[in-house]
Parts: sequence; C-alpha cells; structure tokens
Amino acid sequence: MRVIALGQQKGGCGKSATAINLACEAVAAGHRAALVDMDYEQGTALRWGKRRSQDTPSVHEANAVTLSPLLAKLQSEGFEWVFLDLPGRNSPVASAGLVASDLILIPVRPLDIDVEASAATVLAAKRAKKRYSYLISISPPQAERRRAKQVAATLQDLGHPVAPTIIVQRLLVPDAVAAGKCTCEADAKSESAAEFKALFNWIAKEVVL
Ligand SMILES: Nc1ncnc2c1ncn2[C@@H]1O[C@H](COP(=O)(O)OP(=O)(O)OP(=O)(O)O)[C@@H](O)[C@H]1O
Ligand SMILES: [Mg+2]
Repeated sequence: MRVIALGQQKGGCGKSATAINLACEAVAAGHRAALVDMDYEQGTALRWGKRRSQDTPSVHEANAVTLSPLLAKLQSEGFEWVFLDLPGRNSPVASAGLVASDLILIPVRPLDIDVEASAATVLAAKRAKKRYSYLISISPPQAERRRAKQVAATLQDLGHPVAPTIIVQRLLVPDAVAAGKCTCEADAKSESAAEFKALFNWIAKEVVL
C-alpha cells in the first residue's frame, strides 16, 4: 500500500483538490484507493465524499491518534493507494500524516508566499527522513505559465524535487469538487483531467514498493 500525503502549511494551495483527483485517478487506473481527510476544520474531502454518488474512492477521516489504526485496516483490506489530505497548518495531525507517508507532495501556487510557507513542510519531511516533491499547483494559465516554469526551475536549482506536471488553474477543478466529482468524471477530455492523470502516473512510477 502506498501512502501519499498532500501537505503544506499554507492554506488554499490545492492540497484537497489534488488529493481528491489523485484518489480518483488511482480508481480510474483500476486500483483500490482511499482518501483520508485529516483537516477536520475544513472537511473538504469528507464533504466531497458525501456529495458523491459512487463509493469509490473510499473516503475516511482521521486524526493523529486514529490514522495508524485506519492505515492498518486499509492495508488488511487490500487497499493499494491512500491519499492523505492534511490541514493547512503545522500541527500534530499534519505531522502524523507526514510521518505515515511514502511521499509528501507539497503543492505551491507559483507565488513567493506559497514557496516561503512551504519551508516548514520541507523541514518536517527532512527531519522525518521522508521523500517529498513540490507540485506547482493552481498555476495561472496562458502566458503566466512561464511563471510556473520559473518557480519550478528555481526550486530545482535549490535542490528540491519538483513533480513534472503543472496543475493549471481552471474553473473545472473547483466546479468538479463542488459537484462531488473529479475532473475526469466532470470532463474526461479536459486538460485538467489529463494533468491529474499524468501526475498520478508519475507518482506510480516514482513510489514503487
Ligand atoms: N487547479 C485549480 N484550478 C482552479 N481552482 C482550484 C484548483 N485547485 C484548487 N482550486 C480551488 O482553490 C481553492 C483552494 O484549493 P484547495 O481547497 O484544494 O486548497 P487546500 O490547500 O486544500 O486549502 P486549505 O489549506 O484551506 O485546506 C479551492 O476553492 C479549490 O477548489
Ligand atoms: Mg484543504
């Protein structure tokens, strides 16, 4: 079972939207996948699960105490992928999620404030000896995509791994979440669906058990 944490103490950078879409991409690829909401204040993933008509991916909630038994249960039930949607602040809940993961995906909008705020998550990942990768997320489209590439290059120059896929800002992403869907269910031919699929495929190649 592979556990992927979406972590970054900066709020609003795309943790929940990415966790939701990656869990759905894992399902679309034929895997048993679970989505675990660890942000009880927002409950974005949990509310998304309630709006949904399908029962895949399996949606759960967990805190610092209940995560470990939940993961043991999911493993014993044959789940192959777990995506943890962590809260947008440093807390024991977020730490528990980081420590339990095989890969920490750190979404940042291509903005200095997001990159600056991510330092604490990188430090926590390094302290826990966990693998991490930045993900450029909610990137302004068209000409401003240049900015996303610049930020990715700067992070790489500083020695940080960066996922090769850029998640572009499009209304389809929040609209799908609001409808209890992922982008591939809302519009399978959309560029957003292609981006999340490419991101999942990259993770599946990178995190081999
Ligand atoms: N690719 C995208 N394009 C457009 N809007 C997006 C995209 N990804 C996320 N959003 C929207 O941006 C907002 C923040 O995204 P999201 O809730 O996923 O971030 P978060 O990091 O989980 O935030 P929080 O820390 O507050 O939980 C939400 O309204 C979400 O629907
Ligand atoms: Mg969230």
